[in-house]
Amino acid sequence: MAKIVILASGSGSNAESIIRYAQAHNTYQVASVISDKSEALVLQRAKNLGVEAETVVKTKDESKVQFEDRLVHVIEKYQPDWIVLAGFMKLLSKNFLMNFYDQKIKQFKVVNIHPSLLPLFPGKEAYEQSFNSGLAEYGCTIHFVDEGMDTGKMIYQERLKKIEGEDFETFKARGLAAENRIYPIILEKLFVEFSS
Ligand code: GRF
Repeated sequence: MAKIVILASGSGSNAESIIRYAQAHNTYQVASVISDKSEALVLQRAKNLGVEAETVVKTKDESKVQFEDRLVHVIEKYQPDWIVLAGFMKLLSKNFLMNFYDQKIKQFKVVNIHPSLLPLFPGKEAYEQSFNSGLAEYGCTIHFVDEGMDTGKMIYQERLKKIEGEDFETFKARGLAAENRIYPIILEKLFVEFSS
C-alpha cells in the first residue's frame, strides 16, 4: 500500500479529506502531515484524525537549502512513496525534489493541487484571478511538481461552470469542495497506476 506524507501550510481541508478517504478505503496510508507554519489548523485536523503532525518552520538565519534539507530529513523518517502538497505555500527547489525522483516514471514523486485550470493563473490568489477573469469556466488542476511555479505535468483537471451573479465566497467554496472531493480519488488512481 502506498504511504504518503502530506505537506500543508494552512487550514487543511484537502489534507483532512485525503486522510478521511484513506482511512475509509484503506487503499493508501497517510503517515504524517508536516507543516511549515506552527499555527496551521491542518495540524489539529490531522491529530484529531489520529495522524501524526509535525512542524518544520524555516528560521530567519537558515537558507532555503538548509530548511529543505531539514524538511527532507523529517520526511524520510516516514519512508513515504509519495509526497502530497495540499496548500503548501513554499516553492520547492530542485535540491528538495531530487530526493524524490523516480527513474521509472521520470518524475518527482511529489503531487500538488492548484485552484485554477492551469496553465491559467499559476501562483497565489488563483480563485480571485479566475473570478475576475470573465471566463465562463474555472476549476482545479492536480499535477506533478517540478521546480517551476505550478508548471509540472498535468495529472487531472476538474472544470466547473461559473454561475451568473454568484459572489466570490460561494464561487470559491464550490471550487474548494470540488478539490476536496477529487483529490483523494485521483491520488488513489495515481498510486495504483504507478505502484512499484
Ligand atoms: C487550496 O485551494 C489548494 O488548491 C491551494 O491552497 C488551498 C489549500 O486549502 N494550493 P486547504 O488548506 O486544503 O483547505
